Amino acid sequence: MKQLEPYSLFAEIYDHSMRYVPYKDWSDYILKRSMHYTKQFPEAVLDMGCGTGRLLYFMEKNRKQAGKTKKPWLGVDLSEAMIEEAKKISSKIQWMQADIRDFCSKEAFDLVISTHTTINYFENPGTLIAKAAEHLPKNGIFFLDFTSEMNLIRNFDRKKIQETKQNLLLEWESSFDPKSKLIQVHLNFFHSKTKQAIGREAHPQFFHTPKSLEKILKENGFRILEKGGDYDLFTKFEEADMCHMLCQKVK
Ligand SMILES: C[S@@+](CC[C@H](N)C(=O)[O-])C[C@H]1O[C@@H](n2cnc3c(N)ncnc32)[C@H](O)[C@@H]1O
Repeated sequence: MKQLEPYSLFAEIYDHSMRYVPYKDWSDYILKRSMHYTKQFPEAVLDMGCGTGRLLYFMEKNRKQAGKTKKPWLGVDLSEAMIEEAKKISSKIQWMQADIRDFCSKEAFDLVISTHTTINYFENPGTLIAKAAEHLPKNGIFFLDFTSEMNLIRNFDRKKIQETKQNLLLEWESSFDPKSKLIQVHLNFFHSKTKQAIGREAHPQFFHTPKSLEKILKENGFRILEKGGDYDLFTKFEEADMCHMLCQKVK
């Protein structure tokens, strides 16, 4: 099957595939927890690996309510196709196609986020964490989420699911090897009616233990303010599918 760039075709149906992801609730949660410490609405926000931008879109709606307008809200993503989708949902946010490893902005942001397991795409998670540190002033907030190992074993190892949107049939295959910590995801696309193959995207990813992430965060000058699970205050970090850390730059 023809090999495609990651997200080059998936971008078209990403929002449909993620239709059960409560981005609005995630957005409220991130704002609430970070403002608990900063006591003010963030004026400049950077989303690293913003995808189709839905999370930033919901956060930005709160900015209007808070009457803040001027400072940059920026979503950065490696995939041109994902950025094109993001541009369709908001023109108030700046969207930039770039590899976060090469990203460099003169702006300082009050809040940097990286969500929905974007960090799993980084073999060396330190590169993403260092970029967050680079773009935050002292006391700036970094919100990071990542998948738990239990979630990978339960829901991603040797799994195959299918879904259809209009002309596209997506077959999603995933596996996880706890030894090597490698997560293999292959997305196979077909014409939904004829079942003719269109192409295949490979999304190799890497599981990082919470301990290793915590160590790298501290090495990059972050203090961990909160560790939580599944974007609520009730799920324990150790029992969550999606873990998160809310950090503050202290050095
Ligand atoms: C699982 S998606 C998450 C998207 C979005 N944050 C969300 O909440 O839906 C991971 C995203 O990370 C992006 N990504 C992966 N590696 C990247 C890199 N080196 N630089 C920038 N973006 C990257 C991908 O293109 C993809 O859009």
